Amino acid sequence: MNILGIDTSCDDTSAAVVVDGAQVLANVVNSQVKLHHPYGGVVPELASREHLRNIVPVVSEALSAAKLKMSDIHGLAVTIGPGLIGSLLVGLYYAKGLVYVQKIPLVGINHLEGHILSIFLEEHIPSFPFVALTVSGGHTSLFMVEGFGHYTLMGQTLDDAAGEAFDKVAKVLRLGYPGGVAIEKLSLLGNRNKIHFPRAHLAPGSLDFSFSGIKTSVALYVKKWEVNKKQDEQASLADIAASFQEAVVDVLVEKVMMASERSGVSCVVIAGGVACNKVLREKMTEAASPKGIGVFYPRPAYCTDNGAMIALAGYHRIIHGERADLSMDVRSRFPIDELVPMAR
Ligand code: KG4
Ligand code: ZN
Repeated sequence: MNILGIDTSCDDTSAAVVVDGAQVLANVVNSQVKLHHPYGGVVPELASREHLRNIVPVVSEALSAAKLKMSDIHGLAVTIGPGLIGSLLVGLYYAKGLVYVQKIPLVGINHLEGHILSIFLEEHIPSFPFVALTVSGGHTSLFMVEGFGHYTLMGQTLDDAAGEAFDKVAKVLRLGYPGGVAIEKLSLLGNRNKIHFPRAHLAPGSLDFSFSGIKTSVALYVKKWEVNKKQDEQASLADIAASFQEAVVDVLVEKVMMASERSGVSCVVIAGGVACNKVLREKMTEAASPKGIGVFYPRPAYCTDNGAMIALAGYHRIIHGERADLSMDVRSRFPIDELVPMAR
Protein backbone atom coordinates (compact mmCIF):
# COMPACT_ATOMS: atom_id res chain seq x y z
CA MET A 1 0.00 0.00 0.00
CA ASN A 2 1.54 3.30 -1.16
CA ILE A 3 0.87 6.14 1.27
CA LEU A 4 1.64 9.77 0.54
CA GLY A 5 2.57 11.65 3.73
CA ILE A 6 2.55 15.44 3.98
CA ASP A 7 3.94 17.54 6.82
CA THR A 8 3.74 21.35 6.92
CA SER A 9 3.55 21.74 10.69
CA CYS A 10 6.30 24.32 11.10
CA ASP A 11 8.91 25.58 8.66
CA ASP A 12 9.62 22.56 6.43
CA THR A 13 7.40 21.56 3.52
CA SER A 14 7.71 17.80 3.27
CA ALA A 15 6.14 15.02 1.23
CA ALA A 16 7.06 11.34 1.16
CA VAL A 17 5.88 8.07 -0.31
CA VAL A 18 6.15 5.03 1.97
CA VAL A 19 5.14 1.47 1.02
CA ASP A 20 3.40 -0.67 3.66
CA GLY A 21 4.62 1.56 6.49
CA ALA A 22 8.19 0.46 5.99
CA GLN A 23 9.87 1.17 2.65
CA VAL A 24 10.58 4.83 1.89
CA LEU A 25 10.40 5.42 -1.88
CA ALA A 26 10.85 9.19 -1.57
CA ASN A 27 11.17 11.75 1.21
CA VAL A 28 11.40 15.34 -0.03
CA VAL A 29 11.95 18.20 2.42
CA ASN A 30 12.00 21.83 1.40
CA SER A 31 13.68 23.67 4.27
CA GLN A 32 12.86 27.31 5.01
CA VAL A 33 15.94 27.84 7.17
CA LYS A 34 17.38 30.55 4.89
CA LEU A 35 14.10 32.46 4.90
CA HIS A 36 13.83 32.58 8.70
CA HIS A 37 17.57 32.89 9.42
CA PRO A 38 17.64 36.73 9.56
CA TYR A 39 14.89 36.70 12.23
CA GLY A 40 16.56 34.12 14.52
CA GLY A 41 13.41 31.98 14.55
CA VAL A 42 10.38 30.94 12.53
CA VAL A 43 8.08 33.80 11.43
CA PRO A 44 4.63 32.15 11.13
CA GLU A 45 3.25 34.36 8.33
CA LEU A 46 6.35 33.86 6.19
CA ALA A 47 6.28 30.11 6.85
CA SER A 48 2.67 29.81 5.73
CA ARG A 49 3.26 31.78 2.52
CA GLU A 50 6.33 29.69 1.72
CA HIS A 51 4.41 26.42 2.22
CA LEU A 52 1.83 27.72 -0.24
CA ARG A 53 4.56 28.29 -2.81
CA ASN A 54 6.23 24.92 -2.20
CA ILE A 55 3.52 22.37 -1.55
CA VAL A 56 2.74 21.56 -5.21
CA PRO A 57 6.38 21.20 -6.36
CA VAL A 58 7.34 19.23 -3.24
CA VAL A 59 4.55 16.67 -3.72
CA SER A 60 5.34 16.41 -7.47
CA GLU A 61 9.02 15.87 -6.67
CA ALA A 62 8.16 13.14 -4.15
CA LEU A 63 6.00 11.33 -6.71
CA SER A 64 8.62 11.53 -9.44
CA ALA A 65 11.41 10.43 -7.06
CA ALA A 66 9.20 7.44 -6.15
CA LYS A 67 8.59 6.85 -9.88
CA LEU A 68 4.84 6.86 -9.25
CA LYS A 69 1.82 8.77 -10.48
CA MET A 70 -0.84 10.23 -8.22
CA SER A 71 -3.12 7.39 -9.34
CA ASP A 72 -0.65 4.87 -7.79
CA ILE A 73 -1.23 6.36 -4.30
CA HIS A 74 -3.64 4.36 -2.12
CA GLY A 75 -4.00 6.74 0.83
CA LEU A 76 -2.98 10.14 2.10
CA ALA A 77 -1.76 11.08 5.58
CA VAL A 78 -1.37 14.71 6.56
CA THR A 79 -0.23 16.38 9.78
CA ILE A 80 -3.12 18.25 11.41
CA GLY A 81 -1.34 19.34 14.63
CA PRO A 82 0.24 20.37 16.86
CA GLY A 83 1.94 23.17 14.98
CA LEU A 84 1.52 26.59 13.43
CA ILE A 85 -2.06 27.04 12.25
CA GLY A 86 -1.20 28.90 9.04
CA SER A 87 1.39 26.25 8.10
CA LEU A 88 -0.83 23.27 8.95
CA LEU A 89 -3.71 24.72 6.91
CA VAL A 90 -1.69 24.65 3.69
CA GLY A 91 -0.92 20.93 4.01
CA LEU A 92 -4.40 19.93 5.11
CA TYR A 93 -6.33 21.83 2.43
CA TYR A 94 -4.00 20.65 -0.31
CA ALA A 95 -4.51 17.09 0.96
CA LYS A 96 -8.28 17.52 1.00
CA GLY A 97 -8.23 18.65 -2.63
CA LEU A 98 -6.12 15.65 -3.63
CA VAL A 99 -8.24 13.01 -1.90
CA TYR A 100 -11.46 14.56 -3.24
CA VAL A 101 -10.18 14.21 -6.79
CA GLN A 102 -8.40 10.86 -6.35
CA LYS A 103 -11.10 9.27 -4.17
CA ILE A 104 -8.59 7.74 -1.74
CA PRO A 105 -8.67 7.54 2.09
CA LEU A 106 -7.42 10.49 4.13
CA VAL A 107 -6.16 10.44 7.73
CA GLY A 108 -5.06 13.34 9.92
CA ILE A 109 -1.86 12.66 11.88
CA ASN A 110 -0.60 14.02 15.17
CA HIS A 111 2.92 15.32 14.47
CA LEU A 112 4.24 13.78 17.70
CA GLU A 113 2.90 10.36 16.75
CA GLY A 114 4.95 10.79 13.58
CA HIS A 115 8.12 11.49 15.58
CA ILE A 116 7.44 8.56 17.98
CA LEU A 117 6.99 6.13 15.07
CA SER A 118 9.80 7.52 12.89
CA ILE A 119 12.09 4.75 14.20
CA PHE A 120 10.02 2.20 12.22
CA LEU A 121 11.41 3.74 9.02
CA GLU A 122 14.70 2.09 10.04
CA GLU A 123 15.74 -1.54 9.75
CA HIS A 124 16.81 -1.82 13.38
CA ILE A 125 13.57 -1.38 15.33
CA PRO A 126 12.63 -1.59 19.02
CA SER A 127 10.13 -4.03 20.46
CA PHE A 128 7.01 -2.83 22.30
CA PRO A 129 6.67 -1.56 24.96
CA PHE A 130 9.28 1.16 24.83
CA VAL A 131 9.88 4.66 26.16
CA ALA A 132 10.08 7.43 23.56
CA LEU A 133 11.57 10.87 24.02
CA THR A 134 10.45 13.34 21.37
CA VAL A 135 12.77 16.28 21.59
CA SER A 136 12.52 19.08 19.06
CA GLY A 137 12.04 22.81 18.59
CA GLY A 138 8.43 22.64 19.70
CA HIS A 139 8.33 19.68 22.09
CA THR A 140 10.12 17.76 24.80
CA SER A 141 7.94 14.86 25.88
CA LEU A 142 8.36 11.37 27.27
CA PHE A 143 5.90 8.67 26.26
CA MET A 144 5.24 5.08 27.15
CA VAL A 145 4.58 3.35 23.82
CA GLU A 146 2.67 0.08 24.05
CA GLY A 147 1.86 -0.37 20.37
CA PHE A 148 0.97 1.57 17.23
CA GLY A 149 -1.53 4.20 18.38
CA HIS A 150 -1.07 3.44 22.09
CA TYR A 151 0.87 6.17 23.83
CA THR A 152 0.79 7.49 27.40
CA LEU A 153 2.39 10.80 28.27
CA MET A 154 4.89 10.32 31.14
CA GLY A 155 6.34 13.82 31.31
CA GLN A 156 6.83 16.96 29.26
CA THR A 157 8.42 20.36 29.37
CA LEU A 158 6.69 22.89 31.57
CA ASP A 159 8.09 25.81 29.56
CA ASP A 160 10.58 25.82 26.65
CA ALA A 161 11.33 22.80 24.48
CA ALA A 162 14.96 21.63 24.49
CA GLY A 163 15.38 22.62 20.81
CA GLU A 164 13.90 26.02 21.58
CA ALA A 165 16.54 26.44 24.32
CA PHE A 166 19.26 25.54 21.76
CA ASP A 167 17.80 28.10 19.33
CA LYS A 168 17.49 30.86 21.94
CA VAL A 169 20.97 30.29 23.38
CA ALA A 170 22.39 30.31 19.83
CA LYS A 171 20.74 33.69 19.35
CA VAL A 172 22.36 35.00 22.56
CA LEU A 173 25.73 33.64 21.35
CA ARG A 174 25.04 35.15 17.89
CA LEU A 175 25.45 31.79 16.17
CA GLY A 176 22.38 32.11 13.94
CA TYR A 177 19.29 29.97 13.39
CA PRO A 178 18.66 27.05 13.76
CA GLY A 179 20.75 26.88 16.88
CA GLY A 180 21.15 23.17 17.56
CA VAL A 181 23.55 22.41 14.74
CA ALA A 182 25.59 25.59 15.35
CA ILE A 183 25.93 24.89 19.09
CA GLU A 184 26.89 21.27 18.50
CA LYS A 185 29.59 22.31 16.02
CA LEU A 186 31.07 25.05 18.22
CA SER A 187 30.95 22.77 21.28
CA LEU A 188 33.51 20.47 19.67
CA LEU A 189 36.09 23.21 20.32
CA GLY A 190 35.02 23.88 23.92
CA ASN A 191 35.34 22.44 27.41
CA ARG A 192 31.97 21.04 28.49
CA ASN A 193 32.95 21.21 32.18
CA LYS A 194 34.11 24.84 32.18
CA ILE A 195 30.85 26.37 33.47
CA HIS A 196 28.21 24.62 35.54
CA PHE A 197 24.88 25.81 34.20
CA PRO A 198 21.85 24.79 36.34
CA ARG A 199 20.05 21.51 35.61
CA ALA A 200 16.35 21.72 36.43
CA HIS A 201 15.43 18.40 38.05
CA LEU A 202 12.04 19.67 39.36
CA ALA A 203 10.31 17.64 42.12
CA PRO A 204 12.04 14.37 43.13
CA GLY A 205 11.06 11.66 40.66
CA SER A 206 9.38 14.11 38.26
CA LEU A 207 9.58 13.21 34.58
CA ASP A 208 8.78 16.77 33.52
CA PHE A 209 11.38 19.14 32.09
CA SER A 210 12.13 22.85 32.34
CA PHE A 211 14.62 24.63 30.08
CA SER A 212 13.77 28.29 30.54
CA GLY A 213 16.05 28.65 33.61
CA ILE A 214 19.15 27.45 31.81
CA LYS A 215 18.45 29.76 28.88
CA THR A 216 18.26 32.74 31.28
CA SER A 217 21.34 31.57 33.14
CA VAL A 218 23.35 31.46 29.87
CA ALA A 219 22.04 34.92 28.87
CA LEU A 220 23.11 36.40 32.25
CA TYR A 221 26.50 34.68 32.04
CA VAL A 222 27.09 36.06 28.54
CA LYS A 223 26.16 39.58 29.65
CA LYS A 224 28.89 39.50 32.33
CA TRP A 225 31.29 37.62 30.07
CA GLU A 226 31.12 40.23 27.33
CA VAL A 227 32.56 42.83 29.73
CA ASN A 228 35.59 40.68 30.65
CA LYS A 229 36.13 38.34 27.74
CA LYS A 230 39.67 39.48 26.96
CA GLN A 231 41.03 37.99 30.19
CA ASP A 232 42.86 34.70 29.68
CA GLU A 233 41.12 32.66 32.36
CA GLN A 234 37.71 33.53 30.92
CA ALA A 235 35.65 30.87 29.20
CA SER A 236 35.61 30.97 25.40
CA LEU A 237 32.41 31.13 23.36
CA ALA A 238 32.95 27.43 22.62
CA ASP A 239 33.19 26.65 26.35
CA ILE A 240 29.84 28.38 26.92
CA ALA A 241 28.22 26.44 24.06
CA ALA A 242 29.69 23.12 25.24
CA SER A 243 28.72 23.71 28.88
CA PHE A 244 25.16 24.64 27.90
CA GLN A 245 24.83 21.56 25.66
CA GLU A 246 26.16 19.36 28.45
CA ALA A 247 23.57 20.67 30.91
CA VAL A 248 20.65 20.06 28.52
CA VAL A 249 21.94 16.60 27.58
CA ASP A 250 22.44 15.63 31.25
CA VAL A 251 18.80 16.37 32.06
CA LEU A 252 17.47 14.55 28.98
CA VAL A 253 19.58 11.46 29.76
CA GLU A 254 18.62 11.46 33.44
CA LYS A 255 14.87 11.65 32.76
CA VAL A 256 14.92 9.02 30.00
CA MET A 257 16.80 6.65 32.30
CA MET A 258 14.37 7.33 35.13
CA ALA A 259 11.37 6.71 32.84
CA SER A 260 12.78 3.47 31.42
CA GLU A 261 13.81 2.06 34.79
CA ARG A 262 10.46 2.94 36.32
CA SER A 263 8.49 1.28 33.52
CA GLY A 264 10.84 -1.70 33.16
CA VAL A 265 11.25 -1.41 29.37
CA SER A 266 14.33 -2.67 27.58
CA CYS A 267 14.19 -0.22 24.66
CA VAL A 268 14.12 3.56 24.40
CA VAL A 269 13.64 5.67 21.28
CA ILE A 270 15.02 9.19 20.94
CA ALA A 271 13.37 11.18 18.13
CA GLY A 272 12.86 14.77 16.93
CA GLY A 273 15.38 17.36 15.71
CA VAL A 274 17.50 17.45 18.89
CA ALA A 275 17.99 13.66 18.59
CA CYS A 276 20.49 14.50 15.80
CA ASN A 277 22.85 15.73 18.52
CA LYS A 278 25.87 13.43 18.77
CA VAL A 279 26.69 14.22 22.41
CA LEU A 280 23.11 13.35 23.36
CA ARG A 281 23.39 10.08 21.42
CA GLU A 282 26.71 9.18 23.03
CA LYS A 283 25.71 10.00 26.58
CA MET A 284 22.33 8.29 26.27
CA THR A 285 23.91 5.07 24.99
CA GLU A 286 26.62 5.29 27.66
CA ALA A 287 23.99 5.51 30.41
CA ALA A 288 21.65 2.88 28.97
CA SER A 289 24.08 0.12 27.93
CA PRO A 290 25.19 -0.97 31.43
CA LYS A 291 21.51 -1.30 32.35
CA GLY A 292 20.81 -3.55 29.37
CA ILE A 293 18.60 -0.92 27.73
CA GLY A 294 18.84 -0.55 23.96
CA VAL A 295 18.71 2.99 22.58
CA PHE A 296 17.23 3.50 19.11
CA TYR A 297 17.69 6.64 17.02
CA PRO A 298 16.24 7.31 13.60
CA ARG A 299 18.80 8.67 11.08
CA PRO A 300 19.02 12.50 11.18
CA ALA A 301 16.77 12.93 8.10
CA TYR A 302 14.00 11.09 9.96
CA CYS A 303 14.67 12.95 13.25
CA THR A 304 13.94 16.38 11.81
CA ASP A 305 10.49 17.03 10.37
CA ASN A 306 9.70 14.79 7.43
CA GLY A 307 6.74 13.41 5.49
CA ALA A 308 7.93 9.78 5.75
CA MET A 309 7.08 9.51 9.46
CA ILE A 310 3.61 10.92 8.71
CA ALA A 311 3.07 8.41 5.88
CA LEU A 312 4.14 5.58 8.21
CA ALA A 313 1.76 6.67 10.98
CA GLY A 314 -0.96 7.09 8.34
CA TYR A 315 -0.44 3.56 7.04
CA HIS A 316 -1.12 2.09 10.49
CA ARG A 317 -4.24 4.20 10.92
CA ILE A 318 -5.56 3.41 7.44
CA ILE A 319 -5.09 -0.35 7.82
CA HIS A 320 -6.99 -0.10 11.11
CA GLY A 321 -9.90 1.37 9.17
CA GLU A 322 -9.53 4.99 10.19
CA ARG A 323 -10.88 7.55 7.69
CA ALA A 324 -11.14 11.32 8.02
CA ASP A 325 -13.85 13.26 6.27
CA LEU A 326 -13.42 16.58 4.52
CA SER A 327 -14.63 18.52 7.56
CA MET A 328 -11.41 17.67 9.47
CA ASP A 329 -9.60 20.74 10.77
CA VAL A 330 -6.10 21.65 12.01
CA ARG A 331 -5.21 21.93 15.73
CA SER A 332 -2.48 24.18 17.12
CA ARG A 333 -2.56 22.07 20.28
CA PHE A 334 -3.15 18.34 20.00
CA PRO A 335 -2.47 16.32 23.19
CA ILE A 336 -1.57 12.73 22.39
CA ASP A 337 -4.36 11.38 24.62
CA GLU A 338 -6.89 12.95 22.23
CA LEU A 339 -5.83 10.66 19.37
CA VAL A 340 -8.45 8.50 17.69
CA PRO A 341 -8.06 5.10 19.47
CA MET A 342 -6.61 2.27 17.35
CA ALA A 343 -7.83 -1.30 17.81
CA ARG A 344 -5.11 -3.57 19.27
O1 KG4 B 1 11.91 18.10 14.76
P1 KG4 B 1 12.35 19.42 14.23
O2 KG4 B 1 12.93 19.45 12.83
O3 KG4 B 1 11.19 20.45 14.22
C1 KG4 B 1 10.25 20.58 15.24
O4 KG4 B 1 9.26 19.79 15.25
O5 KG4 B 1 10.50 21.44 16.11
O6 KG4 B 1 13.40 20.01 15.27
C2 KG4 B 1 14.06 21.24 15.08
C3 KG4 B 1 14.85 21.56 16.34
C4 KG4 B 1 15.48 22.96 16.34
O7 KG4 B 1 15.20 23.56 17.58
C5 KG4 B 1 16.96 22.67 16.20
O8 KG4 B 1 17.79 23.66 16.81
C6 KG4 B 1 17.10 21.33 16.88
O9 KG4 B 1 15.93 20.62 16.50
N1 KG4 B 1 18.29 20.60 16.41
C7 KG4 B 1 19.33 20.27 17.20
C8 KG4 B 1 20.28 19.64 16.37
N2 KG4 B 1 19.78 19.59 15.10
C9 KG4 B 1 18.55 20.18 15.15
N3 KG4 B 1 19.53 20.47 18.51
C10 KG4 B 1 20.71 20.04 19.03
N4 KG4 B 1 21.67 19.44 18.28
C11 KG4 B 1 21.51 19.22 16.98
N5 KG4 B 1 22.46 18.63 16.25
ZN1 ZN C 1 8.84 17.97 14.63
